Amino acid sequence: MDDIIKKRRSIRRFQDRPIAAATLAELFEAARYSPSWGNLQCWEIVVVRAPEDKKKLAELLSAKNPASKCTETAPVLLAICGNPQNSGFYKGVQVTRYQHWFLYDLGLISQTLCLKAWEQGLGSVIIGSFDHKAAEAVLGVPPGHELVAIIALGYPDHDPPVPKRRELEAFVHYDRFPVR
Ligand SMILES: Cc1cc2nc3c(=O)[nH]c(=O)nc-3n(C[C@H](O)[C@H](O)[C@H](O)COP(=O)(O)O)c2cc1C
Repeated sequence: MDDIIKKRRSIRRFQDRPIAAATLAELFEAARYSPSWGNLQCWEIVVVRAPEDKKKLAELLSAKNPASKCTETAPVLLAICGNPQNSGFYKGVQVTRYQHWFLYDLGLISQTLCLKAWEQGLGSVIIGSFDHKAAEAVLGVPPGHELVAIIALGYPDHDPPVPKRRELEAFVHYDRFPVR
């Protein structure tokens, strides 16, 4: 587990190799067990495979986004959507100071997907910077649901270095948040 957590990298170049349906099914089966607010499991995942759809979505990233090219060339894109009212609300009433717990749940399932994918020999990159409204129109995301992230998925074609991480002392605080 430690190995998977530490060795997983964001992959932005994929081999020209399809992902078997059984591999995707195994991936989604693992993702089902992600934790979520009240176990409401607010997520919906659109599996994008058609080259013309991947191209349309890739055009909605800015040219400067390092994931632009791989959004078009990845064998599969996962559009991570959710219903905001299905997380952090009880009978339609917001129950904490935060309105957007669905983002948290979608982050958790994204992490499960990326780690499980790595275990399967697949690489992934989470993409959060694109024209969300236009991408929702491409995918037919209905009112009441929102598209939050796209995960590009495929067999890695590069082995990127580990981006620098903060040291533990910089963010782990025992007993009290330190005065800085
Ligand atoms: C919420 C979120 C949004 C991200 N959006 C993008 C993106 O739009 N384009 C991109 O190339 N990478 C994106 N990334 C990937 C991060 O850049 C990457 O996780 C980070 O640099 C650490 O590298 P690592 O995943 O290899 O450890 C995103 C990651 C997260 C968690």
